[in-house]
Amino acid sequence: MKKRIGVLVSGRGSNFEALADSVARGRIPNAEIVIVVSNREDAPAIEKARLRGIEARSIPSKGLEREAYDKLVVAALSEKKVDLVCLAGYLRLLSPYFVNAFRGRILNIHPSLLPAFPGLESQRQALEHGVKFSGCTVHFVDENLDAGPIVLQAVVPVEDDDTPETLAARILREEHRIYTEAVRLVLEGRTRIVGRRVLLVS
Ligand code: GRF
Repeated sequence: MKKRIGVLVSGRGSNFEALADSVARGRIPNAEIVIVVSNREDAPAIEKARLRGIEARSIPSKGLEREAYDKLVVAALSEKKVDLVCLAGYLRLLSPYFVNAFRGRILNIHPSLLPAFPGLESQRQALEHGVKFSGCTVHFVDENLDAGPIVLQAVVPVEDDDTPETLAARILREEHRIYTEAVRLVLEGRTRIVGRRVLLVS
């Protein structure tokens, strides 16, 4: 049976596209993306999903408490029998209700070497801090922001003439690569969480 992936987005959707390409080309074997959910109706990712023939739903969050909203999203993911939830530029903190519903089965991609520079505008934070290397992180999601056990990271050099945009573009190429790799490892059952550490088993 193919593993069923649900992707949550809020915007552009380039990480969603990278995952969809990887599934289509067999770099993530025995898997399918069964649903894309956006909290924003105008997210370009929705159209990108539909163009690929993947079901995409926008579930607007306006006026709803965090848990009430998450119940709607969890219901949509459960209805589609999702095995793994991939956050891909999803700009919402998950409630304990959501995390408990899919504990150990939610991944996020973040554009810094966590625990440095969590939250928004990580590339700008990295430049302003003056680090010489930044990168990206795929991690399991828990109740805290950008905080769960780390599956994979990639390091990217910071150049003297970087702007947040040029650094973001260099990091994004690595995001696309390691997100695919992390999803493959998790779906193949090759990750074991021990405390804060994610060990790779063969
Ligand atoms: C990426 O940089 C991702 O790491 C961060 O938000 C951005 C989303 O970009 N969480 P996209 O929508 O996947 O193109």
